[in-house]
Amino acid sequence: MNTTQNAASHEAHIRDQFTRQAAEFAVAPELHNGEVLALLVEAAAPGTAHTTLDVACGPGSIAVAMAKRARHATGLDATDAMLDQARALAQAQSITNIAWQKGDVYALPFEDGSFDIVTCRFAVHHFTQPQAALDEMLRVCRPGGTVLVCDATASDEPEKANAFNEMEQLRDPSTVAFLRLDILRGLFAAAGLPEPRQVFFQVPTEREEMVTRAFPANNDFEGLRKMIDDSAEGDRMAMNARRHGDTVLLAYQAVILTATKPG
Ligand SMILES: C[S@@+](CC[C@H](N)C(=O)[O-])C[C@H]1O[C@@H](n2cnc3c(N)ncnc32)[C@H](O)[C@@H]1O
Repeated sequence: MNTTQNAASHEAHIRDQFTRQAAEFAVAPELHNGEVLALLVEAAAPGTAHTTLDVACGPGSIAVAMAKRARHATGLDATDAMLDQARALAQAQSITNIAWQKGDVYALPFEDGSFDIVTCRFAVHHFTQPQAALDEMLRVCRPGGTVLVCDATASDEPEKANAFNEMEQLRDPSTVAFLRLDILRGLFAAAGLPEPRQVFFQVPTEREEMVTRAFPANNDFEGLRKMIDDSAEGDRMAMNARRHGDTVLLAYQAVILTATKPG
């Protein structure tokens, strides 16, 4: 398969997964958790004069949280069904200083330096070209503005990182790979940004919650369940997995990285 076919098939996975997941994402506690949203808002520090852009905004909770503090917020996503959920969220909260835009993170439909703050949460692992995505986020951020990337990270131990990514690629075939913390930080350096500030948090979950909400490759729910169960032995995916009654509790290890674009 050539590169164009690969990109087309990845885009098809993104469209398929996120159209199917949109309704669940609209009510997913981990995407609307107030404490985590507060961490992101605190890290991005929007002021009343600021304009913000959230790329790969999904059901819109970050853009809405930013709009509550900023002059204006924009959310951009590649999936229509996600943007429908985002619009509904803003409407339900009577947020009017907000716009939604369909688009691709690799070709943002904005002029250079259009925004004071550009954010992206829980999406880098879906990008085939994470560096190109960060470079494009940086392009539309004004000099002196803030770029924020938040995602779960893979372990520094290669076997655990591979086991985590294999499970995630089965659970959601639009996953490319979760990156190690040093690689995520390296994207900032390669983009010409200073060392990012970092804030860590966890996203707790449970085996059945993960399995029942998934649209796994080949409908392999049993394979997914087994991978998660097996990971409790020696915490094989570095998700702090442990047995609890007849289930397994575990947690995504996430980081918020924030840097100021040189002026
Ligand atoms: C896991 S969701 C994250 C949702 C949201 N950022 C949040 O934290 O609540 C990933 C989102 O990335 C979007 N996405 C994936 N690839 C994209 C791309 N190349 N350009 C724009 N959006 C993309 C998907 O449509 C999906 O809504």
